[in-house]
Amino acid sequence: RWIQLPSNPEGSRDAPLAFAFDIDGVLIRGSNVIPAAKRALSILEGNNPLKTKIPYILLTNGGGIGEAERCRRLSKELDFEIKETQYIQAHTILKIVVEKYADVPVLVLGGLNDDVRKVAQSYGFKRAYTPLDVKAWNPTYGPLTLLEAHNLTHIPSVWPFYDLTADELASTRPIDFSTTPIQAIFVFHDPRNWALDTQVICDVLQSGGIIGGPYRKPDIPIELVFCNPDLIWRADFERPRLGQGAFREAFQAVYKALTGAPYPHVQYGKPTTATYKFAEQVLRDRLAEMQGKPVKEMPQVYMVGDNPESDIAGANAAGWNSVLVQTGVYDPADGPPRHTPTHHAEDVEAAVRYAIEREI
Ligand code: G3P
Ligand code: MG
Repeated sequence: RWIQLPSNPEGSRDAPLAFAFDIDGVLIRGSNVIPAAKRALSILEGNNPLKTKIPYILLTNGGGIGEAERCRRLSKELDFEIKETQYIQAHTILKIVVEKYADVPVLVLGGLNDDVRKVAQSYGFKRAYTPLDVKAWNPTYGPLTLLEAHNLTHIPSVWPFYDLTADELASTRPIDFSTTPIQAIFVFHDPRNWALDTQVICDVLQSGGIIGGPYRKPDIPIELVFCNPDLIWRADFERPRLGQGAFREAFQAVYKALTGAPYPHVQYGKPTTATYKFAEQVLRDRLAEMQGKPVKEMPQVYMVGDNPESDIAGANAAGWNSVLVQTGVYDPADGPPRHTPTHHAEDVEAAVRYAIEREI
C-alpha cells in the first residue's frame, strides 16, 4: 500500500515527512525501553517499503547530563545511533542565551551533584554555582537540608548541621557567596532537594543576589529561568510522577507566602513556543545534514508524545501534526485530553505507521 520510491541508502531525499519523538512515556519508561520504540525506529531507519531513511529528532523535557552523554546512552538503549544533531533536551535551548551570562556568577539547579554544573560549563557558563556550593560555603546554611538526595549519604549527619567531608568541600569551588552577587538562576533539570533549592532561590531573589545579605531589590532584576514545565511525567511507577513544573509551583507558592507575590520567571521546554521554534530549526538542520543540501520547504512534521499538556499542545501550536500515545502520562480512562491530537495511537510504532500511510 506504500508507493515505491527510489531507494536512497545515504539518507532521506526530500522525505515527505519527519518526526519529533518525545522520550519519557513514548520511547522509554524509567529504566525500560518501550518495546514499540525499536520497531518504530527500525521503520524510520529504512526498514520499510520506501527503502529510505525518514528523518527524526528526539525532543524531551528531560535533561540533567550533557547532550553527548545522553545520546550515547540512548543509542545503546534503542540500538540505533542517536546523534547530537537529532537531540534536544529541556535545557539545550540555553545554548542560545548563555552569552549574556557567560562571565557572571549564576546559580544552576537540578539533577544530582555536579552534573548540571558540567553541562552549564559546556554551554559556556564560566561561573556556574550550585546549591551544594552554597552548603559547602557555610554548613549552617540549610539545617534541614537532606544531602542524601544528592547521593552524599556517606556524610555523617550531625544534627542540626551536616558536616561536609573535606573532599566534598574540595570538590566544590571555594566561593564566598557573601561577596559574589548571583545574577541569574537557571533550573536546568528536575531538582532533587526541594528544601535546599527553594531556600537558595529565595535567598538570592530576596537579597539582590547576595546570599545571606539584607533583603533588598537588585539594581538589575535577577532572571529566574525554568527549563521544563512538566507538572507530571511518566517513569517506571504505575502513576505519573511530579516533574520540574511541580517544583516551580512549590517554589512560587513559598516565594508568594514570603513576599506577597510570585516571582516573574522565564519558562522554556515543551509546550513553549521558544522550544518548538528551536526544535524546528534543529529539525531543519538535521534534514539538511541528511539530504546534503539546505531545506527549501519543511516536510509534514509529526510530533509523537504521551503528555497532552507538553507534546500535543506544543505541536498543535507549532502547526505540526500531533499523535498522542497511551504508553505514558495520557490514559484514555481519564477521558479526552485537554489538547486534541491529530491522531490517537496505542504506541509509537502505531503512530509512525499512521503518519507514513497518511503522507505517502
Ligand atoms: O524530566 C523529564 C520529564 O519531565 C518528561 O520528559 O521526555 O516526556 O518530555 P519527556
Ligand atoms: Mg513524555
